[in-house]
Amino acid sequence: MKVLGIMGSPRVGGNSDILLDQALAGAKDAGAQVEKTILDKLKISGCKDCKKCNETGLCVIKDDMPEIHKKILDADAIIHSVPVYFWSMTAQMKAYLDRWCALFDAEWRWQKQYYPKMKGKRIGLMTVCGDPDVHTADPIVHSFKSTVDMTKLNWLGVVMASASEKGDIGKDENAKKQAWELGRKAATP
Ligand SMILES: Cc1cc2nc3c(=O)[nH]c(=O)nc-3n(C[C@H](O)[C@H](O)[C@H](O)COP(=O)(O)O)c2cc1C
Repeated sequence: MKVLGIMGSPRVGGNSDILLDQALAGAKDAGAQVEKTILDKLKISGCKDCKKCNETGLCVIKDDMPEIHKKILDADAIIHSVPVYFWSMTAQMKAYLDRWCALFDAEWRWQKQYYPKMKGKRIGLMTVCGDPDVHTADPIVHSFKSTVDMTKLNWLGVVMASASEKGDIGKDENAKKQAWELGRKAATP
């Protein structure tokens, strides 16, 4: 069982990162092999809508995303963690999500060669916003949940938390517990 963590904040050691570490610790505790990818440390350009991937399933952009595509295909579950930036997700996470394009054909069906690996893959999400109202992150949830629904992935659920300063989420025992449980769920078939 492989659980991949995708960290979408540029603030390494920040709130999203702390929650993701909790989730991955929960997954490990449940017996999974875990791996974390910090998007900000990689080069991931925006999708160019060139549609070349529609034929081949391979993205023509020469950056770090094709390696992440391999990790996505290889994982049984993927947990994303991202802060709210201007009522939306960070640029790093949006570039990553847009580049999922390469996994689909022109009708937004999984590329035939990827279908066996993508079918039923479990997807989770964690959001952090500075606003005390965690629903400030609803647009991010909508984006991920709609992607999961459209592609018949398996939605693990979402942990939504609120924190401002770097590391503040460490004091939020409830959010950390929820993250841990999301990780355990990701690792449990
Ligand atoms: C550029 C930028 C834009 C932000 N926009 C919002 C926002 O629209 N709503 C909000 O509640 N918090 C906003 N925040 C606050 C972050 O979501 C908050 O500080 C969060 O804890 C950062 O998480 P991190 O430590 O994982 O990076 C913004 C922060 C930055 C740097």
